[in-house]
Amino acid sequence: MSLRDEFTNCESDVRLDGKVALVTGATSGTGYEIAKNFANRGARVIIASRNTEKLEKTKANLIESTGNPNVVHRQMDFESLKSVRAFVTEMYTYEPRLDILVNNIGAIGLEDRLTEDNLNLMMQVNYFGTFLLTFLLFPLMKLSAPSRIVNVSSLALILGHIEIDQMNEVGRYSNFGIYSNAKLADVLFTVEMNKRIQGSGVSVFSMDPGLGKSEFFRHYDDGFWKSALNTALLIFGRRLHRVATMSVFLAIDPRVADSSGKHFRDCAEFYSTWFANDTNLTCSLWERSKQLVRIHPQEDWETNFLYY
Ligand SMILES: NC(=O)c1ccc[n+]([C@@H]2O[C@H](COP(=O)([O-])OP(=O)(O)OC[C@H]3O[C@@H](n4cnc5c(N)ncnc54)[C@H](OP(=O)(O)O)[C@@H]3O)[C@@H](O)[C@H]2O)c1
Repeated sequence: MSLRDEFTNCESDVRLDGKVALVTGATSGTGYEIAKNFANRGARVIIASRNTEKLEKTKANLIESTGNPNVVHRQMDFESLKSVRAFVTEMYTYEPRLDILVNNIGAIGLEDRLTEDNLNLMMQVNYFGTFLLTFLLFPLMKLSAPSRIVNVSSLALILGHIEIDQMNEVGRYSNFGIYSNAKLADVLFTVEMNKRIQGSGVSVFSMDPGLGKSEFFRHYDDGFWKSALNTALLIFGRRLHRVATMSVFLAIDPRVADSSGKHFRDCAEFYSTWFANDTNLTCSLWERSKQLVRIHPQEDWETNFLYY
C-alpha cells in the first residue's frame, strides 16, 4: 500500500441488496470505481454520463467484473439542462426508488462560453447540472428514505469565490478559477440543502477526493499542459478504487448517519472554507441557482403543496 492510500477507516461491510444507487460520470475515472463498489455490494446501479457508446461498454465491464447483472445505463449531458430533465423523467418513469446519489460528474479545461441555457459551460458541468439533478430527484429520494446524496467537490474550492450576479460571466475567471468556484458552489449548496431538508430522512454530504490517477485534464487544448497534468495525477494521485472508497463510505456507512451537511476528506470531517458558514451566501446561492436552472413551480418541492 502506498502512503498516499493510507486511509483505512473507510472500509465498510454494508451490503446494498435491494437498494438503488445512481452514479453520475461513471464512464471513466473514480465514477467507474464507485459504481463497481456499489455493484459488488449487490445494489441496482444506474450509471449516467453523456456518451452512449462509453456507457454501454462501462455497463458490460461492470456486469462482467462484479457478476451483478443489475446495472443500468442512462444518458445525460450536463451541457444541457433539457438533457438533465429528460434523464429525471426517465428516472421517475422506471425507478420506483433511489437510495444513493453520487454526484461525481466534473470536468476542467472546457471552453469559456455560454451554454444553450445561458450559463457558463464550466459552471454548468461542474455545478448547475448537479444542482438541478439533485433538486429534481429529491422527492424520489425522500420516498426512499433513509437515503443519501454525496457531492464530489475538490480541494480547489479553497480558491473559489462566489459572486452571485457574475458567476456565469464569460471572460471573468480563469479556467481553474471557475472550476474552483463551481467546486465551492457544490459545497455551499450541500450546506444549504441540508438545512432545507431537515426531517426528510435524506442526508447530503460533500467531499474532497484528493488527487486520483484519472485523466481528468484530458479536455485541455494545450498538449503540453494536458500531458504534464495527467502525468502528475498518475504519479501523485491515489489509485482510483481507493479514492472511490471515500464516496462509498459517505453513501453507506452508519458512522456518518448524523453528519449530514458536512464536508469530508479521507473519510473524516474536513475544512471547507469559512464561506460554508455564511448563511446569507449559501441561501442566496440556493435561490439564485433555482432561478438560473429555471425550477418550475410544479418542480418546486419547497413551495408546491403536492410534495407535502
Ligand atoms: N482526479 C482528481 O485528481 C480529482 C481531484 C479533485 C476532484 N476531482 C473530482 O472528481 C470527480 C471525478 O473526476 P475523475 O478524476 O474521475 O475524472 P474523469 O475520469 O474525467 O471523470 C469525469 C466523468 O464525468 C463525465 N462528464 C464530464 N462532462 C460531462 C457532461 N457534460 N455530461 C455528463 N457527463 C460528463 C465524464 O464523461 P466522459 O467519459 O464522457 O468524459 C466522466 O465519466 C470530478 O467531479 C472531479 O472534479 C478529481
